[in-house]
Amino acid sequence: MADINNEKIRNEIVSNKGFLDIEIDVTLDLFAEIEKLKKEKKAVILAHYYQEPDIQDVADFIGDSLGLSQKAASTDADMIVFAGVHFMAETAKILNPNKKVLLPDLNAGCSLSDSAPPALFKLFRDKHPDHIVITYINCSAGMKALSDIICTSSNAQKIVESLPADQKIIFAPDKNLGAYINKQTGRDMLLWNGSCMVHEIFSLEKITKLKIRHPKAKFIAHPECEAPVLALADYIGSTTGLLKYTQQSDAKEFIVATETGILHQMQKASPDKTFIPAPPNNTCACNDCPYMKLNTLEKLYLCMKYELPEITMDEPLRLAAKKPIDRMLEISAQFGL
Ligand code: 13P
Ligand code: SF4
Repeated sequence: MADINNEKIRNEIVSNKGFLDIEIDVTLDLFAEIEKLKKEKKAVILAHYYQEPDIQDVADFIGDSLGLSQKAASTDADMIVFAGVHFMAETAKILNPNKKVLLPDLNAGCSLSDSAPPALFKLFRDKHPDHIVITYINCSAGMKALSDIICTSSNAQKIVESLPADQKIIFAPDKNLGAYINKQTGRDMLLWNGSCMVHEIFSLEKITKLKIRHPKAKFIAHPECEAPVLALADYIGSTTGLLKYTQQSDAKEFIVATETGILHQMQKASPDKTFIPAPPNNTCACNDCPYMKLNTLEKLYLCMKYELPEITMDEPLRLAAKKPIDRMLEISAQFGL
């Protein structure tokens, strides 16, 4: 059994090896242990809807990217345990330099964030000095530092509309969300060519067949999906938007085109309704985000117990990345979002 006090082992945990060598007593009630650790350490667990059900069930707050950033900005906890992916925990750290921010698995990245390397993006941005840069929150701190305003899927349209109609805009990194906002607002934003591997995997053909088999079902989709999928949707929105829609709608069946984790809250909120995950274009489980699903209840427990791995950041980068996040939070508050 690995010795957690050993410097080498601690370094391995914060590098790419994680908690692989640390054994957990199988008789431990992890839910109770995590509750104990929360109180002991004055910790708050923030979880995204794409986390596995067990993690959602121990979280203090479950939300979409905007809700989680707002919660991270307002928490008075000493420690933030982020059950989500790296850019989300990083955002929490940017907003809370004096709090300890933990992520159960540092390898929980994001394909969309990876599609925009800051050095490459800077070259692109510098070629368009008259454009304002609006960047989707699914990006690194380095990308945020190159941006004017951050947005999420729930406030992107309002943020774009808050700018004068003739303002030139670069939108990065998600080309699908960017194209959707262009369509909704009539703008012609310049789009970075990035995308999310999970939201690009849905099969138009299988969704069409499902709609024929379930004629009363509402088809709902996240705006990170490709345009032909969005064209079929009865409702398009962020994960929180999708959840609310299923609660408020009279429909009894829903075909859901986003990561499958959200179905846990949908089913909990509306036990009498049926939720069908939109199928991917092959037989894999690719509508599960492989990054989000790296976090497990075991890793969450170990991360809280040993306070590792921790998110750290250089202060100049943090300050530069904070500015566009603050603008997003201000504009969102103005619109009551
Ligand atoms: P929202 O949290 O804004 O719904 O976005 C989903 C997502 O892809 C997070 O990675
Ligand atoms: Fe990134 Fe897509 Fe996973 Fe969200 S679902 S974390 S956008 S890879």
